Amino acid sequence: MNRALSIVGLVLLAVGVASCRDYKATEEDGPEQPIAFYHSVHAGQNQMPCMYCHYTADRSPAANIPSVQLCVGCHVAGSASAGAVPAQASLTFPSKQRDSTWHREALKLVDYWKRGEAIPWVRIHDVPDHAHFPHYVHVNAGLQCQTCHGPVQNMKKVYQYSSLRMGWCISCHRGETPLSAPEEAAVRQRSSFVRKIATLRAQGNDVRGQLATYPNQRASTDCTVCHY
Ligand code: HEC
Ligand code: HEC
Ligand code: HEC
Ligand code: HEC
Ligand code: HEC
Repeated sequence: MNRALSIVGLVLLAVGVASCRDYKATEEDGPEQPIAFYHSVHAGQNQMPCMYCHYTADRSPAANIPSVQLCVGCHVAGSASAGAVPAQASLTFPSKQRDSTWHREALKLVDYWKRGEAIPWVRIHDVPDHAHFPHYVHVNAGLQCQTCHGPVQNMKKVYQYSSLRMGWCISCHRGETPLSAPEEAAVRQRSSFVRKIATLRAQGNDVRGQLATYPNQRASTDCTVCHY
């Protein structure tokens, strides 16, 4: 049974690895959002850290989409005061003079807030329910958001940069996906898998074929870490 499963797995891996090479998307592929919110303006020009808004990425499985409240904290004067929407609530920036399209988009934000509604952002990334992706493990292991999501700080419209197929996950776990030198160094130091293997080796254990099959392996490739 186990053997049959792993053969199925290996075939799937081959298919997955092959298909991830073909995957290519551009901004055209990103969905229209209820507000044309530009990452290039916020994370790019204004250099807001990704985790200012996606603040659960290092402590929970999901990275979190910020609430209207976080947006209006910057965009609406007087919004910091708790309770009812202040009568004078108005957009602080972007200014009408500078760019009327920006102003119109930002006013939609004020309207959602005044109506007490959440912004119905269209979900872009979604791995199927039978597989589990924990953000915090990856962020704490020293991986950059951009390694998986691409140059989001340059995007007006976010799109799915990586295939998110099983082969894509596995090639990085095996250590076959190249990372920048500083990122690789961080992962070597911080991955609990790499540390566990190093300890077992230091104790004289042969870990080949059991835990670490690949020389530069960075994380477990056990079916059960992703499927449970
Ligand atoms: C000012 C707040 C803010 C900042 C800063 C920010 N984001 Fe976002 N992010 C959002 C909002 C709002 C959405 C949902 C709308 C959209 O998709 O554009 C989002 C969506 C995303 C998505 C797609 C989510 C999905 O639906 O699958 C990714 C990936 C993402 N952000 C990554 C990043 C990265 C990487 C950075 C840093 C380079 C960053 N974000 C900085 C607010 C922010
Ligand atoms: C830390 C402060 C801050 C936060 C938080 C913030 N913004 Fe902004 N936003 C800015 C600044 C600064 C600009 C650029 C204004 C300018 O240059 O005139 C901007 C510009 C905009 C614009 C016009 C450009 C564009 O992206 O289309 C929109 C719309 C907008 N913000 C919506 C939002 C939404 C929606 C959120 C919450 C997800 C949000 N902002 C969160 C500071 C912020
Ligand atoms: C190792 C690859 C990887 C890294 C690193 C990574 N992400 Fe993700 N991200 C994903 C995958 C895969 C999904 C889809 C998860 C799902 O559907 O369950 C996702 C989904 C998201 C979403 C949609 C909401 C959610 O949690 O599903 C946001 C927002 C996001 N990522 C932001 C970020 C930010 C910000 C960082 C850096 C702090 C980051 N990601 C780092 C792979 C990654
Ligand atoms: C590092 C995470 C990871 C590991 C390890 C992993 N998988 Fe997956 N698997 C995924 C993801 C993500 C998907 C969903 C995306 C896709 O279908 O490519 C998936 C999809 C699948 C599917 C459904 C394929 C389809 O077309 O619907 C099967 C079956 C599967 N995996 C079996 C296995 C087996 C067997 C193993 C062990 C040899 C394994 N997986 C190991 C992440 C993983
Ligand atoms: C760019 C590299 C990279 C990609 C892409 C990637 N991972 Fe990982 N993954 C890692 C690293 C590094 C760790 C940390 C290992 C550790 O600390 O033990 C990790 C850890 C994990 C863990 C925890 C493993 C454990 O032993 O508890 C799971 C689950 C996981 N990844 C699932 C996924 C899934 C599902 C995908 C694809 C949707 C994926 N990963 C894509 C690098 C990656």
